[in-house]
Order: sequence, then C-alpha cells, then structure tokens
Amino acid sequence: MVVLFLSAVDSAADWQAELGRLLPDLELRVWPDLGDPTEIEAALVWRPPPGLLDRLPNLKLILSLGAGVDHILADPSLPPGVPVVRLVDPYMTAAMSEYVQLQVLRLHRQDPAYLEQQRARRWRTLPQPNAAERRVGVLGLGVLGSDAALKLKVLGFDVAGWSRSERKLPGIATFCGADGLEALLRRSEILVCLLPLTPATAGILDARLFGLLPRGAALVNCARGGHLVEADLLAALDGGRLSAAVLDVFRDEPLPPEHPFWAHPRILVTPHVAAATHPPSAAAAVADNLRRLREGRPLLNRVDVSVRY
Ligand code: GLV
Repeated sequence: MVVLFLSAVDSAADWQAELGRLLPDLELRVWPDLGDPTEIEAALVWRPPPGLLDRLPNLKLILSLGAGVDHILADPSLPPGVPVVRLVDPYMTAAMSEYVQLQVLRLHRQDPAYLEQQRARRWRTLPQPNAAERRVGVLGLGVLGSDAALKLKVLGFDVAGWSRSERKLPGIATFCGADGLEALLRRSEILVCLLPLTPATAGILDARLFGLLPRGAALVNCARGGHLVEADLLAALDGGRLSAAVLDVFRDEPLPPEHPFWAHPRILVTPHVAAATHPPSAAAAVADNLRRLREGRPLLNRVDVSVRY
C-alpha cells in the first residue's frame, strides 16, 4: 500500500522507521514527491495544503498526524466521502494530562503571583485553599478532556466538565448544551479548554465567556488558538476579570515576536508542546487503521464530518 506523508513539523524518517516495522509492505511517499498520484491509497498528514488531497483519485483514507482534525477539515476541496480519522495515542493522552495537571497545579498554588512577587523581591504569603476547595472546569470531554478531568480529580480538585452532548464520568459533575455551559463556567475558578476546533467552538473563549467565570479565574488553553479571542483575553487580564492564562496554542504559530502575549506578566506561553505526536507509540494506531482499511474492517476514531470532530 502507498501512503502519502505530509508534515512540516513531524519527522518523515521517524515515521518511515516505525511504520516500516509494523507494516513491512507499506511505501511511505513523502511530500512533495507524489510519484504517480493514482497509487496513493491513504494520506498521513498535518496541515495539508488545500486542494492537494483532492488530486489523489484513489485516496481511501485520510489520517491526522495530530489529535485534532481541524487542520484537515479546513480544506474546502476535501474529497467528499473519504473517511478522516483522528490520532488517538495513549502516550499523547498521558502527555496532555501531564501538561494540564502541571498548569492547573501552578495556577492553584498561585505560581504567577509568586513569580511576580519574586521579581519585586517581595515576601508575602497569600491565602491558599487546598485542591478540594478549588473548582476546575474542563471544556471538552473527548479522549483528552476525559483523561485530564479524571487525573485532576485524582489530584483532589473539585472537577466538572462540559461537552456538546451528554457524557458521564465517575466522580465528576458533567454538563452539556448551552445552559450546561453557563453552569459550568459559573463554577470554574480554573478553566481548561480541550475542545475540538469547529465552527461551533471557534472564538468561544471570548469576553462573554470570561464574564461568566468567577472574578479572578484563570484559563488554560491547550486546544487551538482559534478558540481564543486574543483581544478579549488581554482586556480580561488587564481588567482583573481573569488573573492568569496559560496558552500552548495560538492563532499564528510560531507566535510572532512582537505579539503582546510574550511579555504579559500574567500569561505563560508554551510553543504548542502539551502533547506532541510521538511516532514510536502513535505508529501503532496509524498501522491499526491502515490494516483495517486493507481488510475492510471498521475504522477507529473516525471523524463525523457533519459535526467536524
Ligand atoms: C496537536 O495539536 C494535535 O492535534 O495533536
């Protein structure tokens, strides 16, 4: 089987080595070397250029090199009817939860305020609740959001989660729909965004949403930059509505050097590293779906294109 590989950020050599071990008869054809496009049956991609996938007449499967698929569905000429699958890898799920736990603990223990005090050589203790008294909200209860919510619960936080359709998670208050979103926001002192980026969630982290959080709440966005209205975040931080933000994803990546987020004292910037794709573990999930395609068995983690995740 010939599979096209296309990514500006993932190593083709690593993927070639890992997939070669699992599927010795697979030929990974690395963009821009398309060769004969009629031979390509599957495409493993990160941010494919619009129109490219539509030029592959025998394409039967599109596999995302990331957990999200917005970078694929953004292509207006995506070939209709070709299934798209997300990458679900327990290693990446664990990495995302590590990041969320780290940042929620930092915010809970008031690291941003203590760093500011350190810069001013100021010795002052701040009132400190414990985790059971800290209400954390998780937006998005898919594979990543559910794992993060459950691990925050293990740390002792009072965790609630929100998803578009109803989900149940042991020990976690769950909300859904528009009314549920407001209820979740009103109780979230630390809000973690792990939503898929869809037309329904683009720009969801805006002034209206910040206005529903308790005053002084903090935000962790490790989903997509497109969820955040950047000017609204700056206004919310500068007006005291929010106390801090941790951002791993941005509308423009790399974040331009002149961007105000870099120097903001209440924003922590990380360069889209919360859960990087890890070929040694992710290749198993990719190989599994390629085998399923070959054998005509149902695909795993198939995207519902009508809801775009
Ligand atoms: C990265 O952001 C991903 O979608 O895995």
